[in-house]
Amino acid sequence: MRFPEQKLIVSLVFLATATVAFCQEQGPASQVNSCISCHLEIGDELAVPIEGMKGDVHATKGLSCADCHGGDPTAGLDGDSDAAMDPAKGYVGIPDRMKIPEFCGRCHSDPVYMRGFNPRAATDQLDRYKTSRHGQLLRKGDRKVATCTDCHGVHGIQNARDSRSSVYPLNIPETCGRCHADSEYMQPYDVATDQLDDYRKSVHGMALLERGDQAAPACNDCHGNHGASPPGAPSVAFICGQCHLNNSEMFLSSPHKTAFDELELPECEACHGNHAIEHPTDEMIGVGESSICLDCHEEGSKAYDTAALIHDQISGLKERMFYADSLVSQAERAGMEVSEALFQLKDADDALIKARTMVHSLSGDETSIITEEGLGLVEQAVLAGKSALEEIQFRRKGLAVSLLFILILALGVYLKIKELDQKHPIREVK
Ligand code: HEC
Ligand code: HEC
Ligand code: HEC
Ligand code: HEC
Ligand code: HEC
Ligand code: HEC
Ligand code: HEC
Ligand code: HEC
Ligand code: HEC
Repeated sequence: MRFPEQKLIVSLVFLATATVAFCQEQGPASQVNSCISCHLEIGDELAVPIEGMKGDVHATKGLSCADCHGGDPTAGLDGDSDAAMDPAKGYVGIPDRMKIPEFCGRCHSDPVYMRGFNPRAATDQLDRYKTSRHGQLLRKGDRKVATCTDCHGVHGIQNARDSRSSVYPLNIPETCGRCHADSEYMQPYDVATDQLDDYRKSVHGMALLERGDQAAPACNDCHGNHGASPPGAPSVAFICGQCHLNNSEMFLSSPHKTAFDELELPECEACHGNHAIEHPTDEMIGVGESSICLDCHEEGSKAYDTAALIHDQISGLKERMFYADSLVSQAERAGMEVSEALFQLKDADDALIKARTMVHSLSGDETSIITEEGLGLVEQAVLAGKSALEEIQFRRKGLAVSLLFILILALGVYLKIKELDQKHPIREVK
C-alpha cells in the first residue's frame, strides 16, 4: 500500500510550505504573538478584533492585544489558551462596561507612560470624564451613558484628527446623536432628543456638515470633549464668546448681563437658542412682529424705546445704502468710473455689519456712532453716483448738440453741391 503513504507525504510537505508562507505573510510579530495566531486560527468573532486592529492608532504605536487585555503573547503558541490568557500574567479579558474608563485611563492618565509615545499627549481625559454628566451617572451604576468606547470605538480607534475617526469634527454630531437622537434609548431620561435634528438645520450645523467649515462648532465645542455636560447659564456666553468675541464682550458689559444673571436667564441662548441657531435678521430687534425684544419688554419702557431706536438706525442705514447702490450701479453699467463710490459702499457695508454686532451693547448712542459713520460714507457714494449720472446726461446732451451741428453742416454741404450741380450740369459721356 505505497500509494496512500506517498499521498500523506505530499500533503505534509504542502502543509509545511503553506504554514511557512502563512507566517511570512503575517510578519515576524505574529510569529511570537500567540493572541493573534490562535485567535486567527479559531476565526469567527475571536478574529474580528484582529481585522479592526489593522488601522488602529494603538497598533501603529506598536501596541497589541496584550497591552490592553493583559496576558502573555509569548505563551500558548502550542495551543494552550490558558497559558496565554492567564490572570496571573495580568490577563483581564473583556472589561466590564463600568470599568472601561479606568481600563483606558490606566495608560491615558499616566503622563510618564504617554509621553514616552508623544511628548505633548494630554492625560486629562479620565479626570474630565469623571466630572461629566456621563461619568457621574456611570459611577452611580447607569450603564447607558457614554463611556470611552462609545465615542471612540474599540478595535480600530483612530487619531482624533483623522477623518475616519468617530470624533473627527464632521463625524461628532452622528457619534453623539447615536444615543441622543434615539428617543427609545433615551426614554428613561428626562432629556430631549432633538439636538441633532436642530443642530443639522442651524447656521453652525450647515456650515460644518454641508460646507465642511471646521470653524463652526460641533457638539463637543460647546459641551467639551470629555467634560460633556450642558453649559450652565453662567458659562454659555463664555463658550459662544470663544468664537464670537465681540458679541460676548458687548453682552457682558450691557445691562442684560446683570439682569440675566439675577433671573438666571441663559444669556446668548435667551435670544438665539442653542441647537437651532438661525441666521439673525434686522427684524429680530425693534418693535415689529418678529422682534424678540417684545418677549420681555413692554411699550413705554426704556428698553422698548431703545429697541425701536436701534432698529431705525440700522434700517435707515440699510435703506439709504440700497438707494446709493442703485445709483452707483446704474452709473457703472453706463461705463462711468465709480470705483471710489464702490469702495465707500463697501466700507458702509462693513459699518452695517459692525452695527449688527453693536446691537448687543443695547446702547442707541453706541450704535449711532457706527450707523452715522456708515451714513456719511453712503452720502458720499450718493453724491458720486448722482454726479456720474449727471455727467452721463451732460455727455448725452453734448452729443445731441454736436450731432445736430454735424447734421446742419451736412445739409449745408448738400445744398451747396446741389447749387453747383445746377450751375455746371455734368455732361453725359457717350
Ligand atoms: C491557543 C489559543 C488562544 C490564545 C493563545 C489566546 N486566546 Fe484569547 N481566546 C481563545 C478562545 C478559545 C477564546 C474564547 C473562550 C474563552 O473565553 O476562553 C478566547 C477569548 C478571548 C477574549 C474574550 C474573553 C471573553 O471573556 O469572552 C479575549 C479578550 C482574549 N481571548 C484575548 C486574548 C489575548 C490578549 C491573548 C494573548 C495574550 C489571547 N487571547 C491568547 C483562545 C486563545
Ligand atoms: C486599546 C485597547 C484594546 C486593544 C489594543 C485590543 N482590545 Fe480587545 N477589547 C478592548 C475593549 C475595551 C473591549 C470591550 C469592548 C466592549 O465592551 O464594547 C474589547 C473586547 C474584545 C473581545 C470581545 C469581543 C469584542 O469584539 O468585543 C475580544 C475577543 C478581543 N477584545 C480581542 C482582542 C484581540 C485579539 C486584540 C489584538 C488583536 C485586541 N482585543 C486588542 C480593548 C482592546
Ligand atoms: C462623549 C464622548 C467621549 C467620551 C465618553 C470620551 N471621549 Fe475621548 N474624545 C472625544 C472627543 C469629541 C475628542 C476630541 C476631538 C477633538 O479634539 O476634536 C476626544 C479626544 C480624545 C483623545 C485625544 C487627545 C485629547 O484629549 O483630545 C484621547 C486620548 C481620548 N479622547 C481618550 C478618551 C478616554 C481614555 C476616554 C474615557 C475615559 C474618553 N476619551 C471618553 C469624545 C469622547
Ligand atoms: C496600553 C496603554 C493604552 C491603553 C490601555 C489604551 N491606550 Fe489609547 N493610546 C495609547 C497610546 C500610547 C496612544 C498614542 C498616543 C499618541 O500618539 O498621542 C494612544 C492613542 C489613543 C487615541 C488617539 C489619541 C489622539 O491624539 O487622537 C485615542 C482616541 C485612544 N488612544 C483611545 C483609547 C481608548 C478609548 C482606550 C480604551 C478602550 C485606550 N485608548 C486604551 C495607549 C493606550
Ligand atoms: C452611549 C450613548 C451616549 C453617547 C454616545 C453620548 N451620550 Fe450624552 N448622555 C447619554 C445619557 C444616557 C445621558 C444621561 C441623560 C441625563 O442627563 O439624564 C447623557 C447626558 C448628556 C448630557 C447632559 C444632559 C442633561 O441635561 O443632563 C450632555 C450635555 C451630553 N450627554 C452630551 C453628549 C455629547 C456632546 C456627546 C458626544 C460627544 C454625547 N453626549 C454622547 C448617552 C450618550
Ligand atoms: C453652539 C453651542 C452648542 C452646540 C454646537 C451643541 N450644543 Fe447642546 N447645548 C448647548 C446649550 C447652550 C445647552 C443648554 C444649556 C442650558 O440651558 O443650561 C445645550 C443643551 C444640551 C443638552 C441638554 C438637553 C437640552 O436639549 O437642553 C444635550 C443632551 C445636548 N445639548 C446635546 C448636544 C448634542 C448631541 C449636540 C450635537 C448634535 C449639541 N448639543 C450641540 C449648546 C450647544
Ligand atoms: C467653535 C466656534 C463657535 C462657537 C463655540 C459658537 N459659534 Fe456661532 N458661529 C461660528 C461660525 C464659524 C459661524 C459662521 C457660520 C457660517 O459661516 O454660516 C457662526 C455663526 C453664528 C450665528 C449666525 C451669524 C450670522 O451672521 O448668520 C449666530 C447667531 C451664532 N453663531 C451664535 C452663537 C451662539 C449663541 C453660540 C453659543 C451658544 C455660538 N454661536 C457658538 C462659530 C462658533
Ligand atoms: C437680547 C437678545 C440677544 C442676546 C442676549 C444676544 N443676541 Fe446676538 N443678536 C441679537 C439680535 C437682535 C441680532 C440681530 C441684529 C441684526 O441683524 O440687526 C443678533 C445678532 C447676532 C449675531 C450676528 C451678527 C454678528 O454680530 O455677526 C451673532 C453672531 C450673535 N448675535 C451672537 C450672540 C452671542 C455670542 C451672544 C451672547 C454673548 C448673543 N448674540 C446674545 C440679539 C441678542
Ligand atoms: C429674555 C428676556 C429679555 C429679552 C428677550 C430682552 N430683554 Fe432687555 N432686559 C431684560 C431684563 C430682565 C432687563 C432688566 C430689567 C428691565 O430694565 O426691564 C432688561 C433691560 C434692558 C435694557 C436696559 C433698560 C434700562 O432701563 O436701563 C435695554 C436697553 C434692553 N433691555 C434692550 C433690549 C433689546 C433691544 C432687546 C431685543 C434685542 C431686549 N432687551 C430683549 C430682559 C430681556
